[in-house]
Amino acid sequence: TLNAAKPEKGITVQPTMYGIFFEDINFGADGGLYAEMVENRSFEFPQALMGWNTFGNVTVNTADPAFKNNPHYVTLKDPGHRDKRTGLENHGFFGMGVKKGMVYNFSVEARLADKGAKAGKIRVELINKDNDIVAKSRLDITSADWKKHTITITSPITAKDAFMRVYLESKDAVDLDHISLFPSDAWKGAIRADMLQALKDLQPGVFRFPGGCIVEGTDLATRYQWKNTVGKVEERPLNENRWNYTFPHRLYPNYYQTGGLGFYEYFLISEHIGATPLPILNVGMACQYQNKGNEAKANVPLEELDPYIQDALDLIEFANGTTDTKWGRLRAEMGHPEPFNLQFLGIGNEQWDEAYPQRLEPFIKAIKAKYPKMNIIGSSGPDPSGERFDYGWKRMRDLNVELVDEHYYRDENWFRDNIKRYDKYPRKGPKVFAGEYACHTKKVEGKEPTRQNNFLSALHEAAFMTGMERNADVVHMTAYAPLFAHVDGWQWRPDLIWVDNLETVLTPNYYVQQLYSTNPGTNVLPLTAGKLPVAGEDGLYASATYDKRTKEYILKIANLNDGAREVAIEVKGLKNIGAQTVTTLRSDNPKAINTIAKKDVVKPVTTTIAAQTGNILKLSVPAQSFAVYKFGK
Ligand code: AHR
Repeated sequence: TLNAAKPEKGITVQPTMYGIFFEDINFGADGGLYAEMVENRSFEFPQALMGWNTFGNVTVNTADPAFKNNPHYVTLKDPGHRDKRTGLENHGFFGMGVKKGMVYNFSVEARLADKGAKAGKIRVELINKDNDIVAKSRLDITSADWKKHTITITSPITAKDAFMRVYLESKDAVDLDHISLFPSDAWKGAIRADMLQALKDLQPGVFRFPGGCIVEGTDLATRYQWKNTVGKVEERPLNENRWNYTFPHRLYPNYYQTGGLGFYEYFLISEHIGATPLPILNVGMACQYQNKGNEAKANVPLEELDPYIQDALDLIEFANGTTDTKWGRLRAEMGHPEPFNLQFLGIGNEQWDEAYPQRLEPFIKAIKAKYPKMNIIGSSGPDPSGERFDYGWKRMRDLNVELVDEHYYRDENWFRDNIKRYDKYPRKGPKVFAGEYACHTKKVEGKEPTRQNNFLSALHEAAFMTGMERNADVVHMTAYAPLFAHVDGWQWRPDLIWVDNLETVLTPNYYVQQLYSTNPGTNVLPLTAGKLPVAGEDGLYASATYDKRTKEYILKIANLNDGAREVAIEVKGLKNIGAQTVTTLRSDNPKAINTIAKKDVVKPVTTTIAAQTGNILKLSVPAQSFAVYKFGK
């Protein structure tokens, strides 16, 4: 029975309920959502020419630099022989993706290298994988002072693995820095359009950023510092990415963060996709996984926490402050005088033991003293159960945080066995933010668990999410993790969206998230079997909501059985079921995945069913399927 008698009285589904979590892992930012095509554009990688091949007379210098935070630049000089050339070559991130007819915006900070020089010239070429020049453009450099120069190049080809060469064409030498190439369709000139669209299509309620472990850093020196990611991009200092060290079988020693996708951009993206922004800040602890036994160095002494707390206060000012405050002014100067309406702030990620609440407490005190309405999100540590987890929750209750971020990367059995997880959660105290979760299917092939984005994992997530939705009074926010992965450069899977240099692939897991996030409803409706609430009878898992804006009833059912099930549901309080739409995600193959070559192996299908009179909803639920039924309009 579905009780629809007073639908607007049902538990409120929070607008933040189905969100996304972005972290720069798997080349999610540089090489991914940040559309810069040049790797190491500022020559600030530990070896200044990482990512570049040079020929002829090229040197790296720092004297009188263009940018004080990123002082390295290259000098291109005459090679000294008629048949020699000077220049450099960049292959981007696993090649450069170019599209036929697309305009690419090239820019460079440049000056004449020598006193008395007058006429510098460079030639920029786009090359295909066979080493043919497919497009070129020239640029005059006539200024003795650093100056930004721009030109455009139109690609006559579509290729995932093009690259770029920059030649010196003049006798006069030139200094070059911040050599950059963006596709002209990048949103705000910086964000990869197709990846952004994939996020927008989820209509997410909340956007958590920028991590994850990168917030913590492998050590404190390389923790994520938001102040280094705002202001002029050329002056944002490079940071080492924590994800170039783990999973040594997939080591990427060239994984650095330019900060080009920084906190200002994250706020802009939140606004663009209609999600509440949720930044996470370092609590004064480097990654605990990577610093076992080294806590003295990895945890900031309590008496030295102030700068970390100040970063949090300043971030709130950056997001919400008026334009006559220091950080609010910077936001306005960057192009957004209106506040970003920050309401939630996470402090710490997956930290555990007393070291964490000890540091969190002074943050809470300082933030609440200045911004009493700010909602603070604490963490329960990395495990979804056990003593450490219970201790984390207990301490978060003591500290009275608004939400607790809990994470679970578990197998399909755990997901099935935990569908009732939130039925038992206390109704008072902090609410739940399931800030990172994904079903890692157990199947092992060869040495590595496959951990694919297969249909089996998506189906178990769908079933589990019925339990989240039924308990929307306790669960206020959720997010699958990680969000993006590059097919040619990843450290972790499964991931919600896969990309190469030109295309995106939406996984079965993406479609599950989308079916929830685009059909959340506004109020939960009680579903009962006999006298008992429905929470998974006979391998069927269900939740129901009402949407007071569209006046529709929404029923979600996951069928984990190998056979179809016939179901009849009495909808109390409704006269006629009316017309129905059914959107189903299913596959006969639990291992089915979507790939760049075959994107639509698992995809939802929507059908419409003619209006039904009477209030009995009769459904035939296919085997191994997840379906969303909408009716009652
Ligand atoms: O999502 C990948 C990682 O998993 C996150 O960085 C971290 O929070 C968790 O351990």
